[in-house]
Amino acid sequence: MSAEPIRLAAIIGSVRDGRFGPTVMDWFVGEATQRDDVTVDVIDLAETPLSLTGGPTRAPSAEMAQELSRISPRIEAADAYVIVTPEYNHSFPGALKHAIDCHITQWQAKPVGFVCYGGFSGGLRAVEQLRLVFNELHAVPIRDTVSFHGGAAAFDEDNRPKDPNGCNAAAKTLLDQLIWWAVALKEARQKRPYSA
Ligand SMILES: Cc1cc2nc3c(=O)[nH]c(=O)nc-3n(C[C@H](O)[C@H](O)[C@H](O)COP(=O)(O)O)c2cc1C
Repeated sequence: MSAEPIRLAAIIGSVRDGRFGPTVMDWFVGEATQRDDVTVDVIDLAETPLSLTGGPTRAPSAEMAQELSRISPRIEAADAYVIVTPEYNHSFPGALKHAIDCHITQWQAKPVGFVCYGGFSGGLRAVEQLRLVFNELHAVPIRDTVSFHGGAAAFDEDNRPKDPNGCNAAAKTLLDQLIWWAVALKEARQKRPYSA
């Protein structure tokens, strides 16, 4: 076990007005921060928007560079990621894809877990597509996922899950797997920097 807690960047994928994403993120952060083997940095893409015309590029405009400066160092510093995503038309939000595409080496040889929500599929179709994207980026998608079928309907009026036992256990499984990989890959990167 690594002496230092794993640095986890948790990214909210939805940015639209009236979005449900922050409620799901708040629940997840509450679970993660009960552990002493991880620290959490929440990256909210609605609070750190990226211009669509400014990237992805290796030579961003001054405006784009300024926008990226608010999230890129945090993505770089992380040892692991959790993406909190809804499902839009059987996939994940465009703003999330843009933020992913604006980074390359930052994701490499690091694990990525998924918390998803949506209608019938509970967001799982979005996650299946994210797995392909992160594979391409040399990241390591984690097998087990937390999925909320029905999205907001799975939460009560106090914004807490109606079935906390199920999702809390799923979050523990996800975090156990994510942190195992994060420790293993961090040690491996320190021994031998990853070269794609
Ligand atoms: C543009 C759009 C497309 C959607 N497409 C799907 C879909 O294909 N499958 C599904 O299960 N839910 C779909 N939904 C429902 C969302 O997954 C659900 O409303 C979720 O809570 C939205 O997350 P957000 O409020 O954080 O944006 C869609 C919602 C929107 C806004």
